[in-house]
Amino acid sequence: MPTITVSPLERYLHGHRHTDWLVALSDLRAVMHEVDQRATRIWCYQWPVDVARALAAAPDRDAAVRAMWLQGRFDLAEQVDTSHAFLYGHRFWSLVKQTVTEVAVSGDEVPATGLHELVRRMADNAAARARMDVSLLVGITAVALMTLQHVGLEAFRKTRGQTTAPRGLLASAPDQIVGARERDDAQGLFGFLRGIKTRFTVRFDEGRDEACFPIFSGQHITTAALADRRDYTASDARCHEGPIPVQCRAASCGTCWVGVLGGNGKVSAASAAELSRLREFGYIDTGDERPVIRLACQVQAYGNVTLVIPPWNGIVGPYLSRELASPLAPR
Ligand code: FES
Repeated sequence: MPTITVSPLERYLHGHRHTDWLVALSDLRAVMHEVDQRATRIWCYQWPVDVARALAAAPDRDAAVRAMWLQGRFDLAEQVDTSHAFLYGHRFWSLVKQTVTEVAVSGDEVPATGLHELVRRMADNAAARARMDVSLLVGITAVALMTLQHVGLEAFRKTRGQTTAPRGLLASAPDQIVGARERDDAQGLFGFLRGIKTRFTVRFDEGRDEACFPIFSGQHITTAALADRRDYTASDARCHEGPIPVQCRAASCGTCWVGVLGGNGKVSAASAAELSRLREFGYIDTGDERPVIRLACQVQAYGNVTLVIPPWNGIVGPYLSRELASPLAPR
């Protein structure tokens, strides 16, 4: 039977939890290009390492999946090369993946200087190789390390590291993308004469021009999505009423969670009830009235908005609370 060894890098990563990564991303903000600041946080919330740890530690994985009500594609090992397609840094994945893999297989000890220092050092290394701006690599490097922590070195190395060529908005320069996310649609002559803007666009994949639907000012996002009659079920079995999975439309099931990548100032503030439900579902714990993670059925748009739709949903909060409270929980 082959001996399974865990690299020092993996051992170091396994000592950290979701909240540690949130702190690290906050510390890295000053050295990360704006184009990937929200995107990297959305990825971190979308793939919390605590869920991966809980599944790995469960004596019965299927029972844990049921206990957390996990639905959709929640296994990151199947999405190592694709889960971060909404990051600008996705186009540099091959370079970053190779850099992280080399450190992992080297067996070198990791100086205990903090996650943010580790990310920064690896991003510097990759940037020096490619002679490029390190600020564009910091976010995707953090994602690569979190992915390694999730799936382990064997699964991390197994994929080819290829990425799809950026299309649509993602083919633009990073500053252009930041500007485009904040821009509203032109309202035409009648809109101009009325002096009010009434019709906007919700974009849910910047890499595909067709991945958007119209929304009236003040309309709930999932209500507008309902009018998008294209077939999304083939690509995501949870989607029966437009591109955003929904069930209850009443903040009760957690199916419709999304990341708000652009236009956050143009969406309605979260109610106390929505914030409370987001916390209970285990998606985000915050008092921010416009958090980066929302329940789309509770959000009204007053301008163009760019979303990220997670490929899975669940009610993980109660299970994780029990796991983290356990005296046996690894630290
Ligand atoms: S559809 Fe159930 S919480 Fe939004």
